[in-house]
Amino acid sequence: MSRVTQIRTLIALVGGLFSALAFAKPVELDDISRKEVAERIAPLGSVCLEGEDCAANAGATASTASGPRSGEQIFNQFCTACHTSGLLGAPKKGDKAVWETKLAAAGDFSKLLGNAIKGVGSMPPKGTCGDCSDEEISNAIEFMSGLKP
Ligand code: HEC
Repeated sequence: MSRVTQIRTLIALVGGLFSALAFAKPVELDDISRKEVAERIAPLGSVCLEGEDCAANAGATASTASGPRSGEQIFNQFCTACHTSGLLGAPKKGDKAVWETKLAAAGDFSKLLGNAIKGVGSMPPKGTCGDCSDEEISNAIEFMSGLKP
C-alpha cells in the first residue's frame, strides 16, 4: 500500500467510526435513561429489606407531625427526575398546554391523580414516591401542572 492509500484507508475507517457513533448515540442515551430510572427506583425496593420496622416507619413519616409535604418538596425530590426534562415522554413542569391535554384525556383531575398513583405508561406508581400520601401526590401535580384539584 502506498502512503496515500494508507491515509485514505485511515480516513475511511475514522469516518466510518464517527458515523457508527452517530447512529449508535440515541440507543446509548436510551440505555442511560433506562439505567437512571432503574437506579432511582431501586432504593425503594431495598429499603424494606434492611430492617423489620421500615414499612411502619415509612408510613409514619408520611402521616406524622408536620402534615402533608408541599407539592414543591415532593416535586423536587421525586418528580423532577422525569418531569423537568421530559424524560421518557413525561409532560414537563409548567407546560400548560400539554397538561391541559392530559387533563382532557384523563377526564378530570381526580382521574389524572388516580393515574399518577397507579402509574401510567412509563411512569412508575406514585412517580417513585412510595411513601407519598394521595394528598402529597395531588400537591405535586398541582405544583408542576398549574391545574387545580
Ligand atoms: C420515572 C419517570 C417519572 C417520574 C419519577 C415521575 N413521572 Fe409522572 N409521568 C412520567 C411519564 C413518562 C408520564 C407520561 C405517561 C404517559 O402518558 O404514557 C407521566 C405522566 C404523569 C401524569 C399524567 C398522567 C395522565 O393521566 O396523563 C401525572 C399527573 C404525573 N406524571 C405525576 C407525577 C408525579 C406527581 C410525580 C412525582 C411524585 C411523577 N409523576 C414522577 C414519568 C415519571
